[in-house]
Amino acid sequence: MKQLSNRHILLGVTGGIAAYKSAELIRRLKDHGADVRVVMTAAAMEFITPLTLQALSGNPVHTTMLDPAAEAGMGHIELARWADLILVAPATADFMARLANGRGDDLLTTLCLATPAAIALAPAMNQGMWRDAATQANVKTLQDRSITLFGPAAGEQACGDIGPGRMLEAEDLARHCAGLFNSRLLDGVQLTITAGPTREAIDPVRYISNHSSGKMGYALASAAADAGAQVTLISGPTNLPCPDRVNRIDVISAADMHGAAMAMMGECQIFIACAAVADYRPNNCADQKIKKDNDSMRIDLVRNPDIVSAVASHSRRPFTIGFAAETQDLLRYARGKLERKNLDMIVANDVANTSIGFNTNDNAVTVLTANGEQNIAQMGKSQLAAQLIQLIAQQFLNVQS
Ligand code: C5P
Repeated sequence: MKQLSNRHILLGVTGGIAAYKSAELIRRLKDHGADVRVVMTAAAMEFITPLTLQALSGNPVHTTMLDPAAEAGMGHIELARWADLILVAPATADFMARLANGRGDDLLTTLCLATPAAIALAPAMNQGMWRDAATQANVKTLQDRSITLFGPAAGEQACGDIGPGRMLEAEDLARHCAGLFNSRLLDGVQLTITAGPTREAIDPVRYISNHSSGKMGYALASAAADAGAQVTLISGPTNLPCPDRVNRIDVISAADMHGAAMAMMGECQIFIACAAVADYRPNNCADQKIKKDNDSMRIDLVRNPDIVSAVASHSRRPFTIGFAAETQDLLRYARGKLERKNLDMIVANDVANTSIGFNTNDNAVTVLTANGEQNIAQMGKSQLAAQLIQLIAQQFLNVQS
């Protein structure tokens, strides 16, 4: 079943340049199974037409309080009751100020006052406006009233500035909405994830590493936070931003990652080893840059600690999940690792297939436990992460009970 099946989402669009992304957002929400109705403010209509959003949502777009035709069809109080969630994306600084002050001076603010549904905002504004003390005070007021904020992200802005204030991408917003509805299976559970590659220094300027992007581990961290977990992400070097509501510990080498993982033992209840840890490291890291004086050279390598095995054999062992990236004999090798490393679960990933796995946006996996096996078909890493977290949570809760 799709994650937003049968969910009624009222999408509020306010007047910012990010309103053009609302069109894509409607498609993503519908892809996830939601029934979407749209309310636009007057300013939003300066950026995108109601006709576009009507065509995409498949429903008439609501724009004014006093619209006799709308009131005869679905009036504003009915609309407020119809919604399971009001998502305002983009939410401008002005809209947030009006909402924080309890104003009902247009259809969207009135609906927010009248609805019994949850309200979520995706702020989008210039970085200076976002940082302004008045906006930050409004953010606090809204959060104190249990209104959820998705983002904003930081980065390049339409006005040329760089900083916080970008609206999250449509797919991320759709997934966050699904996260709001998902039963928070991991509420308060301490969960640690390793992600990304490690770098093993040869000398001060060179290292041995691999192609892991960290995308799968970061997607899992985000999905686990959506499911209510307290997430610590132990990350090797990646180019990815830290997901919302996740505590990231940055490490470089396998030895650093091992140290950071061991420091979590005792409090950690679920450990997911998603990192592509280098199996070997140079025996000695040269103090100075090595010169090319000879025609050939040898680097003496020694084994790195196996982090997930160390976690799984710890006296205060958490529920432990490993990954097996293989190019052949996937399930046999994966089951061997499940047993040898004493894991509760292993996620087997065929990296011979170049459309999934390392450095790609998609993945397809088989999840193995001591007495079970389940396939998850190819899909985006964030969607797959949400499914994996549900599976992990169910197994974890079974073991606890
Ligand atoms: O043995 P292999 O490297 O194939 O096992 C992969 C699994 O073990 C992954 O979950 C990976 O994160 C973990 N691992 C680890 N420490 C290592 C090597 C692998 O935690 N030194």
